[in-house]
Amino acid sequence: MNKLYYGDNLDILKNSIEDESIDLIYIDPPFNSKRAYNVLFESIDMTDAKAQKEAFADTWSNVSYMDEMYEIQDFDLDLYRFLHTLDNLRISKSIVSYLTIMTHRIYYMRKKLKNTGSFYLHCDPTMSHYLKIVCDLIFDKKNFRNEIVWHYRRWSNTAKIFQKMHDIILFYTKTTEYIFNTQYQPYSHPEWIEETVRGIVNGKLARLKDKEGKYIKRKKENIGVPMHDAWEDINFIGPTAKERLGYHTQKPETLLERIINASSNEGDLVADFFCGCGTTIAIAQKLSRRWIGVDISHLAVRLVYDRLLKPFEGERDAYEKIRSNIDINGFPKDIASAQDLAKSTDKSRMRFQDWIIEIMMNGVSNPQKTADGGFDGYLTFNKSEKGKDVVLIEVKSGNVTVKNIREFAEVVEKQKASIGAFVCFADQVTKPMLAWAKECGHYKPEIWKQKYQKIQIITVEDLLAGKSVSYPLYQNLTFKTATNIPMKTDNDANSLFD
Ligand SMILES: C[S@@+](CC[C@H](N)C(=O)[O-])C[C@H]1O[C@@H](n2cnc3c(N)ncnc32)[C@H](O)[C@@H]1O
Repeated sequence: MNKLYYGDNLDILKNSIEDESIDLIYIDPPFNSKRAYNVLFESIDMTDAKAQKEAFADTWSNVSYMDEMYEIQDFDLDLYRFLHTLDNLRISKSIVSYLTIMTHRIYYMRKKLKNTGSFYLHCDPTMSHYLKIVCDLIFDKKNFRNEIVWHYRRWSNTAKIFQKMHDIILFYTKTTEYIFNTQYQPYSHPEWIEETVRGIVNGKLARLKDKEGKYIKRKKENIGVPMHDAWEDINFIGPTAKERLGYHTQKPETLLERIINASSNEGDLVADFFCGCGTTIAIAQKLSRRWIGVDISHLAVRLVYDRLLKPFEGERDAYEKIRSNIDINGFPKDIASAQDLAKSTDKSRMRFQDWIIEIMMNGVSNPQKTADGGFDGYLTFNKSEKGKDVVLIEVKSGNVTVKNIREFAEVVEKQKASIGAFVCFADQVTKPMLAWAKECGHYKPEIWKQKYQKIQIITVEDLLAGKSVSYPLYQNLTFKTATNIPMKTDNDANSLFD
């Protein structure tokens, strides 16, 4: 089964992935901490984004990199010595912290590779030289295969330097026995080229002639020359490209196609532990590979999920086949497993809530859990060009009565939210509950014709069937922001380490 995880990849690597199980790992980590998270939320104001930001324990800045360095000391003294030395040199702490965190994760990634497996690390010239030493230490220098230069063209306004127009992809393998399917680059047009026919004449290889003494030629398919390590034929995703989802750091599908075709075969397992909006995953799926995707942001994970299913929206069987083959953090896929998760323990009830709010509704869990007068989560949406409004979410995993609806309606009023979504199992919904919800009236934004029931009762069954709370604009702002982020410029990447 294909797996999507949301969470810190270090936890997933340590606890959820079998050793020596993966054929190909590609990663494209963020260059530094805050950016990775804030890009998703930068256009939301702090009040809205606060809970979300807190929910993402920021791997790069909150965790003390010294703690991770000491952990590394326990399993690889050389790696520790390297990082420790850097830490005592005139090198910025943010670089050492970044490298420590990457080292720790790459170490585990190598463990998860099969002996025939390959590892590709996508980075840029700000960090590639440091990361190459880290990889030499982890994989052994003899397993270094290529430093690929991906040269692209894009708008850039950097003054007083040569325009920065390439990324670096470091390619390592676990051993010297690895899968590699040569990729080709066409060397001329048209698609077919002429080749002189050769044969053995007088015991020697010679060009053959016809009866009239002319060399015999035949047409041969132009498969091109073996691909070299400077890739210039793949461009950045343009603003109007069909594949563009708007995810800030989305990589082109053709880039991943080349890597996956080169270093894996059909049926192999491909993993991306910083999967973002899921380019690796979508291409692995397209090329009939099995896959694992991990991202710390549930919004990214949800984006990947939608990306995989969207092409099959009109084809019920194909859609179901793909959906049933994707497992998100072991979250439920049917009502029976949802009931199991809701009922077993306090901890699993919290997971049930998070699943409902973050995965099923694209919302944000409220980190301040209070017994009364609180709410479990929320999502925001655009009500006009600039203004936004809030939907509060309450999730009940057990018995409910009309009293719960009444209390929730009061919270919605108190918090000045526009809409309240009350989620419970279908067998809990009673006529008095529906009647009370209806009596709470409607929300009608100024510029919209439509009005929306203020308190909406949504069942878990509805959510599993693809229905959700109704509010103006389908995408909530929290989610939409991820698809509205301008492309990165070189200046952005640099400023992180200045
Ligand atoms: C540069 S983006 C990857 C973009 C991806 N290649 C694509 O084409 O969409 C890096 C991703 O790593 C995720 N990330 C950052 N720290 C992480 C961590 N500790 N565990 C898992 N994912 C993480 C970020 O949320 C971000 O989506």
